[in-house]
Amino acid sequence: MSGCRICGGPVHEFACFGPQPLSDAFVAPGDVGAEYFFRLAVGRCARCRMVQLTEPVPREKMFRHDYPYRSSQSARMRRHFDRTCRALLRDLPGTDPFVVEIGCNDGGLLTAVHAAGVRCLGVDPSVQAAGAAAVRGLRVVTEFFGEETAARVRAAEGPADLIYSANTISHIDDLASVFAGVDRLLAPAGRFVFEDPYLGDVLARSAFDQVIDEHFYFFAVGSVRDAVRRFGFELVDVEALPVHGGEMRFTVARPGRRRPSAAVGAALAREDALGLAEPASLRRLAAGAERVRAELPALLRRLRAEGRVVAGYGATAKSATVTNYCGIGPDLVAFVCDSTPGKQGLLTPGTHIPVRPPEAFADPYPDYAVLFAWNHAEEIMAKERGFRESGGRWIRYVPDVHVV
Ligand code: SAH
Ligand code: TMP
Ligand code: ZN
Repeated sequence: MSGCRICGGPVHEFACFGPQPLSDAFVAPGDVGAEYFFRLAVGRCARCRMVQLTEPVPREKMFRHDYPYRSSQSARMRRHFDRTCRALLRDLPGTDPFVVEIGCNDGGLLTAVHAAGVRCLGVDPSVQAAGAAAVRGLRVVTEFFGEETAARVRAAEGPADLIYSANTISHIDDLASVFAGVDRLLAPAGRFVFEDPYLGDVLARSAFDQVIDEHFYFFAVGSVRDAVRRFGFELVDVEALPVHGGEMRFTVARPGRRRPSAAVGAALAREDALGLAEPASLRRLAAGAERVRAELPALLRRLRAEGRVVAGYGATAKSATVTNYCGIGPDLVAFVCDSTPGKQGLLTPGTHIPVRPPEAFADPYPDYAVLFAWNHAEEIMAKERGFRESGGRWIRYVPDVHVV
């Protein structure tokens, strides 16, 4: 049993996906012997109910200079961030507002903020991703966000009216350091807005592949409300988002500065009625994963025996969990197509499936393709319409294994 990273309470494990490599550590063909493995397991704190990994992976191992993920690979996400920018800017003070983004990556959101003429700054430790943002004319502090960085930014720029973060706060096991930084930097009436995969959607879709090294926390409205209170803040709004397989946007403010919206109470009531963070709901995730582990490799072996060619689509971080947990290597999935330049030409972490550019998909089309990037299904299936038209079939495994 491990200790809760928020309250120190006992964390009871409810699912383990065995030894796993770092989910974004794609390997060069010559370097396959040197990968870092850890035991990937997820549990729930019996005291504060926060769902979390039982063991953090050191952050310097995950977010390195060559961290390959790029926000702007998806057209849908680019639209999402443009819309988000418009919504966020509506609620800023009139004179010279200041926006800070934690985990800005290549500037998916900040590009729009900057284009709107709003003073802004990103914080992201991954050197190459931050460099891509700088190329777009954005200012980025290449560091892990925390109290020290926040104090320096405040001294140089003054307080932030908005601190925003997407798909990053759930990656940071030391949330106390994040909130200490937010406390330093945020203006008295400012907002801290963050959006991350929502526990309710992970469970509803049985999306066990959301459990990766980088996803340290699985936020629910109840657990986040309690955590931010512990750190001296108040949860004042929540909004469900349809991206990345289902996320929640949390808006946090200093206590008493903003009246909590009705959406917060409604979400809390829904979570209670569902028994969302109850052990029985959580155990279903492990059962769903076991079913996929029984069915997906069996399907792939059958197709191989029939002489079919199977590829993968989207060398996602999530696919590391699926392929390593299910024992799916290049013998079952010949290659994976992915549009991210920093992944192409390398092998998937742990399972060593070659990653190829999207152009390789039609050259010639495989008979079947496992849709690893299931959270981008519409965009990818529309883009790759020719695959279906030529008789190809998609294999999906969320929420269960099926062929379409
Ligand atoms: N916000 C983008 C990128 C998400 S990937 C999007 O939603 O698409 C997560 C990013 O957070 C990575 O670029 C990583 O380098 C960064 N990151 C991880 N830990 C961080 C920390 N402690 N402070 C700031 N950025 C961090
Ligand atoms: P994500 O699920 O973490 O966003 O990762 C999606 C991966 O899929 C990322 O490596 C980029 C890749 N991808 C494609 O190859 N083609 C596409 O059309 C999209 C949207 C993503
Ligand atoms: Zn706890």
